[in-house]
Amino acid sequence: MQEAKEKFVTAAAFLPRRQTLDSLGKAAAGCKGCDLWVKATRTVFGEGAQRAVVMLVGEQPGDKEDLAGHPFVGPAGKILDESLAAAGLEKSQVYMTNVVKHFNWMPDERGKRRIHKKPRYSEIQACRPWLDAEISVTRPRIIVCLGATAAQALIGRNFRVTRRRGEFVASDLAPYVMATVHPSSILRAPDDQSRREQKQAFIRDLERVARELRKHPSAA
Ligand code: URA
Repeated sequence: MQEAKEKFVTAAAFLPRRQTLDSLGKAAAGCKGCDLWVKATRTVFGEGAQRAVVMLVGEQPGDKEDLAGHPFVGPAGKILDESLAAAGLEKSQVYMTNVVKHFNWMPDERGKRRIHKKPRYSEIQACRPWLDAEISVTRPRIIVCLGATAAQALIGRNFRVTRRRGEFVASDLAPYVMATVHPSSILRAPDDQSRREQKQAFIRDLERVARELRKHPSAA
C-alpha cells in the first residue's frame, strides 16, 4: 500500500508528450502529482521567453501568485524586478519559475491569513519533472537559484547559500548555475539599512550574471 502511494507522488504522468512552454503550462494546470493542488487555488507555472537566457528559480508561488496565477507578482517579485533592472538584466532575457508549482500554506492563528509553508522534500521531488521540462525547453545559459530550497533542489542537499552565494558552480543543468538569496529574505531584514545592504548584495550577484551574459553577446 505504502509502495503504491509513494509511486503516485510524482508529476511525471501529467507531462505532455510534445513539450513546449505552452503545452507544459496547460498540462501543469491539471497536475495532481502530489497533494498540494488540494489547498492551492491553481497551478502557477513558470513564465518568460521560450529562448530566455537566464532562468530564475524560486521556491513556490506565494499568496499573491496563487491568486493571480503568475510567478513573482507579490512583494518578493517587486524586489526581484527592481534588482534585475538595477543589475541591467532585461525581463525579456529571463524566465521565472519555482521548484514547486502550487502554493503550500497553513492558516494563521485567527484563521484569516494564509501563511507560507515550506514544501517537503517529497513535494519538491514530485514537482521536479515540470522544472526539468522547463529547463529542457528553454535551455537557459544561466540558472539562478533564489534561496536555499531552489539551491538545494538544483545544486545539492548540502549546498549552503550563506557560504557560496554568487558563485558559479558546475552543473549538468546549464553552462552556468548560481545560487543567491531569495528576495523575500530581503523583505524580512530587521531595519531599513540592512534591507538596503541586503538588496545591494543581491544586485551584485545579479550583476555577475549580467557580466557573464555580456561575455557571450550572441547567446544573450
Ligand atoms: N516566492 C517564490 O519563491 N516564488 C514566487 O513566485 C513568489 C514568491
